[in-house]
Amino acid sequence: MVDSARARLLEQVRGYHDAQVPGPTPFIPGQTPILSSGAVLDADDREALVAAALDMRIASGGIAAKFESSLAKVLKRRKTLLTNSGSSANLLALSTLTSPELGDERLKPGDEVITVAAGFPTTVNPILQNGLVPVFVDIELGTYNTTAERVEEAMSPRTRAIMIAHTLGNPFPVAEIAELAARHGCHLIEDNCDAVGSTYGGRLTGTFGRFSTVSFYPAHHLTMGEGGALLTSDIKLAQLAKSFRDWGRDCWCEPGEDDRCLKRFGLSPGTLPDGYDHKYVFSQVGYNLKSTDLQAALGLSQLAKLPDFIEARRRNWRQLREGLDGLPGLLLPEPTPGSDPSWFGFIITVLPDAGFTVPDVVAWLEARKIRTRRLFAGNLTRHPAYIGQPQRIVGSLTNSDAVTERTFWIGVYPGITAEMIEYVIGSFKEFVTTH
Ligand SMILES: Cc1ncc(COP(=O)(O)O)c(C=O)c1O
Repeated sequence: MVDSARARLLEQVRGYHDAQVPGPTPFIPGQTPILSSGAVLDADDREALVAAALDMRIASGGIAAKFESSLAKVLKRRKTLLTNSGSSANLLALSTLTSPELGDERLKPGDEVITVAAGFPTTVNPILQNGLVPVFVDIELGTYNTTAERVEEAMSPRTRAIMIAHTLGNPFPVAEIAELAARHGCHLIEDNCDAVGSTYGGRLTGTFGRFSTVSFYPAHHLTMGEGGALLTSDIKLAQLAKSFRDWGRDCWCEPGEDDRCLKRFGLSPGTLPDGYDHKYVFSQVGYNLKSTDLQAALGLSQLAKLPDFIEARRRNWRQLREGLDGLPGLLLPEPTPGSDPSWFGFIITVLPDAGFTVPDVVAWLEARKIRTRRLFAGNLTRHPAYIGQPQRIVGSLTNSDAVTERTFWIGVYPGITAEMIEYVIGSFKEFVTTH
């Protein structure tokens, strides 16, 4: 009875979806917005969300666990921990590495973490939040990533970790930087939030560092509204990270479970009385960064479409790259040598002698409903939040400044069609011939 009512409701949900989203709407140049990014959601996604709601999967449980193991398989890591955002996954990665359980490997207040100056704030914030010192290096224009040489130059006896994002899907030279990290006894954390599916030397990004992170905010390759994940193939680190994610607790029972270790009342950790309930024993100074089954249900249904999403992003990027090639005044993006990016966006820098500025191009594009974005913060060290914070800057940040002043990006996400891209290319051509 309940099963057939559920099946009927879900069938109605699909009917509702088809009525609400009757199919592709015609593209009207100059009127239909061409977004920089957005969620691409279909009837399966709607059904997955409603099914989880019908089952009242309001906390983290079986669907989250299934999503974690599925994502680990797809991204070729042994363990995934679902979190409530990509920023939380970054915080979790770095906080876990401060655990006293890691002995000499542990990050301690005042230790340095090398990162890049131009990017998203929450790649850097966990460094400061954990009392560590960010060491900022510059990036290259064209790839918008740093180099192994710049990272090596920034190393000091206090350097204990490297935490860098693959910029807009374009891998940083991660094999070389992983090798450098190993040689200097440093942890490498890859912020893979914008690069799911990218490869470097034929190997997926996110598989080189001790930890990597993913975001499921709607702009990203997969979405669950809000959400993120931490990945690792180090089982001990995964267990430690799970504790940090789940309030810092010592117990590893899933929610609703009671005595997986069969020692619930048989331990006496710390100075607690004998037999103190293991469910409430805390071995790390943790957080609660968990997500819910509702979010994971959407994540699972999105995951099935990941190969198509990645292909569409690559196809859209190629069409733009070919169509804009040779236009004066614009520096077009280049994949990092040896990489095959799963692009997040199409990034462009206006050359200093172009005769026009970023505000000129952006105003032209936005007037045509072609949405533009900045490379997030640009040079982070110029923002009020970071002025006066502990930090070390190595070399000049000339290119990070150039990005702040002369760089923007446009969309390649799977909601953009070939027809839209032709219009974007035509708009750029018209702009450069009239300016
Ligand atoms: C490189 C990078 N890292 C982290 C994040 C944060 O992800 P979230 O919005 O899920 O917290 C973003 C967000 O876009 C990002 O671009």
